[in-house]
Amino acid sequence: MHRVDLPARAVLEGVGGIGFIPLPPRRHVPTKKSSEVTAVSTAVSVPDECRRYGGPWKEEVRALCAEYGLRNLAAMNVVELAQLLNKEAELERAELALAEIRRLAGVAPKPVNVLEALKAQKELPVIKTGVAEFDEKTPWGGLRRGLIYGIAGEFGTGKSMFAIQCSVKAAVEGWRVVFIETEGALNLALFERIAKRFGADLTSLLDRLVVVQATDVLDVKEILLSLLKQPADLVVIDSFVSNALRAQFRGRERLAARQQLLAYKMDILRRMARVFGTATILTDQVIDVPEAFAAKVKKPAGGNIYSQGSNALLMMYRYNKTKLEGHMVPIDVPGMAPNTTINYVIKDDGLY
Ligand SMILES: Nc1ncnc2c1ncn2[C@@H]1O[C@H](COP(=O)(O)OP(=O)(O)O)[C@@H](O)[C@H]1O
Ligand SMILES: [Mg+2]
Repeated sequence: MHRVDLPARAVLEGVGGIGFIPLPPRRHVPTKKSSEVTAVSTAVSVPDECRRYGGPWKEEVRALCAEYGLRNLAAMNVVELAQLLNKEAELERAELALAEIRRLAGVAPKPVNVLEALKAQKELPVIKTGVAEFDEKTPWGGLRRGLIYGIAGEFGTGKSMFAIQCSVKAAVEGWRVVFIETEGALNLALFERIAKRFGADLTSLLDRLVVVQATDVLDVKEILLSLLKQPADLVVIDSFVSNALRAQFRGRERLAARQQLLAYKMDILRRMARVFGTATILTDQVIDVPEAFAAKVKKPAGGNIYSQGSNALLMMYRYNKTKLEGHMVPIDVPGMAPNTTINYVIKDDGLY
């Protein structure tokens, strides 16, 4: 069976250096009788929630469900499910299977009125980031679960700092965090200083803060797929459009393939947001886009896939690099006026 486990490159600097920190199994919300695991004839123990499944490939799906958990299966798409079942030639049946899985998991699409939707949204947990104006001025007052944040800006604006800060703060608040680093430059000391700032030390966060250094694009995809099995509360990719990605997909003729891969990653994150309420932070560099009259406009390197896939897109600016300050501007944040400015100050232990 195709397995997607976290690569052994997951590292985090603890007291004694760098070590492999596997994510602990997610605390499943137990169904009433989940302790009574019942054995089926095949001698594989299948939890109750899986035994209710009666769709196509009953035994195979039940076994898969026992391994992944029903909700985790529900977060997959048809192709991923079909691959796990070795049924890639039968996508139509896989579709039926997935629909049944989602129905059982309670994540099937159901129409709700606007008020209900609004209420459900407001119930999603929010944490304060420690960037005072961000926490004051964003409509949800901090970092909210279930949203995909796009944080774009030039180098040195503080994107990585913001991403690290949110990760550490979220872990301090009890969220399970996976920080995926793609640029080969990870400021581990900053993790430590920020933890201290929020009254914690890294060792106390080890069970819920994992750092993964991805060497290439494929790594990132595999890590995201593995998260369907072990969902996190916050996923950070710093940065989403890595230099490795740009190097791998050079030239115009490969642009479509590149964007397709980005779209797929975005789609995994979107499903995780919906099924598990996972929050995501995607940092992104900016590129110069030539406009009329030889003017240049800076736009996120991820293009439309990135800009439209993010639920909250903000740009970071730091005009004067000799000053340790900058500001964020909402490019596309629902409920936030585009002329809002979020000022921040850069210090040794993060943004303020
Ligand atoms: N202690 C510190 N650690 C890291 N960066 C710092 C520190 N103090 C000041 N800075 C400045 O803050 C900026 C942080 O940038 P960074 O978050 O790496 O930006 P980006 O990810 O957008 O390129 C850098 O320009 C750096 O010079
Ligand atoms: Mg950076």
